[in-house]
Amino acid sequence: MNHDLANEIRSKVDIVDIIGERIPLIAKGKNFFGVCPFHDDTNPSMCVSREKQIYTCFSCHATGNVYTFLMNYEHIDFKEALKYLGDKVGIDTGSIRVSKKTTKYDKLYDAYKLALKYYQNNLNSSAGKKAKKYLNDRQIDESIIKEFEIGLSMETKNDLVKLLSSKDYDLTTLNKIGLASDNHDVYNDRIMFPLYDITGRVVGFSGRRYDDIKDNKYVNTKETDIFKKGELLYHYHIAREEARLNKSVILMEGFMDVIRASTIGIKNTVALMGTALTKEQISLLKRLSNNIILCLDGDEPGVNAALANGELLFNSGIEVKVVELPDNDDPDSFILKHGKERFLGFINNALNYTDFKMRKLRDKVNFKSDEEKVNYINKVIEETVKLTDPIRREVVLKRLAKEFDIGYNTLEMRMNSLLKSEDKKEVVIPKKETTKKDKYTKAFEQIIYFMLNNDWVITKVEEGKLIFPTNIMRNTCSEIIHYYNKYGSINVADFYTSIQDKEDIMLLINSILAEEYNETISEEELEDYFKVVREFATKEEIKRLTNLMKKEIDPLEQAKIAEKIRKLKLGDK
Ligand code: UTP
Ligand code: MN
Repeated sequence: MNHDLANEIRSKVDIVDIIGERIPLIAKGKNFFGVCPFHDDTNPSMCVSREKQIYTCFSCHATGNVYTFLMNYEHIDFKEALKYLGDKVGIDTGSIRVSKKTTKYDKLYDAYKLALKYYQNNLNSSAGKKAKKYLNDRQIDESIIKEFEIGLSMETKNDLVKLLSSKDYDLTTLNKIGLASDNHDVYNDRIMFPLYDITGRVVGFSGRRYDDIKDNKYVNTKETDIFKKGELLYHYHIAREEARLNKSVILMEGFMDVIRASTIGIKNTVALMGTALTKEQISLLKRLSNNIILCLDGDEPGVNAALANGELLFNSGIEVKVVELPDNDDPDSFILKHGKERFLGFINNALNYTDFKMRKLRDKVNFKSDEEKVNYINKVIEETVKLTDPIRREVVLKRLAKEFDIGYNTLEMRMNSLLKSEDKKEVVIPKKETTKKDKYTKAFEQIIYFMLNNDWVITKVEEGKLIFPTNIMRNTCSEIIHYYNKYGSINVADFYTSIQDKEDIMLLINSILAEEYNETISEEELEDYFKVVREFATKEEIKRLTNLMKKEIDPLEQAKIAEKIRKLKLGDK
């Protein structure tokens, strides 16, 4: 990997701009603050430093440079982040190659790749005629079958288990990864839709029945280490680019809806696959776009899901809109019946979530009852308070005043008193959490901190022949020294790039940078820290010798050790 090029590109961008394009940042002092996208939060606990070109979250301790931010935020690898920034500043990154990291799940992904190919072949064989006909009857043609890698599982011959067994997968593994149940195939005679993780790897299947005999419409892969339904969204890897182009994402219920929308060229879509929206999925959605259009099924469960999911998304600061499809249609059936233009019409006229909610508030109200009517009016005002645009507030209140023949002022007064109590919940930038560490750990960490911020400290540490207590601290220290000797100076942002494959070092650095230390340090202060470190080494040595002495049976040897301990203790003073 070419770090010099990575550093050059990094030095040409400003992390504040790159993060600021994705999450709103407020300037405070010389730093910028925003809501951290890497954990569930509504407070601005992420600090972005223009000076150091790094970000740090006080709460979850996510820390790094512009590359790590992009990698984590956009779910891309280093090479992609490099290319993205290179393009931005006009530096060609074409020649850079980054070796793919191997993970313990590689074999699992490979099994799914093999299964995928196997199912695809089945569908194209003579055994797949009936399934093909079903698909074609549903207007799913060859090109869609290819694009969405649709396949077919065979009828009770356990062919997949046999195939994978011949490729070195034992039955235990196959059971664990959801491709076998005992010694049987999990899927028999179903149309197989591969399910992808957010980077586009196949991690599971949904098998649909295509005759009327079988019970469940869909059979899904069970939850495995790589397949967690609540942590992925169907089509996410495609929607990522499309959402940027369209500046919005459409959330649907089923993958058939997404597939259908794709046939008419609408690809900024993701599907929930029948589950309620989870926290993880919300944070995934946030990374795609701040404009989310809910286009769920047009039946009553669909409307209820729109209300529930809309509320969750709205509360996490997303601009939510809702499409209500008529006649119990889902996007799939609606598009088949009415075509692209009418569907786009519905999408473009989606209601703001709050408008949708206010309309739904009316549904079961008996307006002949004064109590229900007043209740309704109050609920609408409560919703109005959540609107950030004062003009929209006024529009809602005026309509309400007119409809129920109530003085506008009365309504406004009520709203203002609610607004006031909202204002009290003012946003405060949270204090950093300080974790209790013993004085030795603190001293070690502080030395590493100052090494990262002051070149001369590195030289001092080298000269002082300091011995750090843990492997990871020693490795971190020698990485810093190595970096310094190679480049002649150090800055945190570039150092980050060089350690991005070394997770344990990265974690240590993150936790150190999350502490609030002074920027600079005097030689005397540094010497004090060195003393603490040496004191620790002595203590450790005394501990070791004491143990040794206990085990020693020869009294002469024992006395020798005791003398050593005595001397160490003296030197300690
Ligand atoms: P739907 O019942 O709306 O499916 O369930 P659909 O998209 O209309 O499918 P078709 O048109 O009947 O083929 C929405 C999602 O819920 C999950 C699936 O992921 C589906 O995409 N689901 C549904 C299941 O997991 N199992 C089921 O039995 C039904
Ligand atoms: Mn359907």
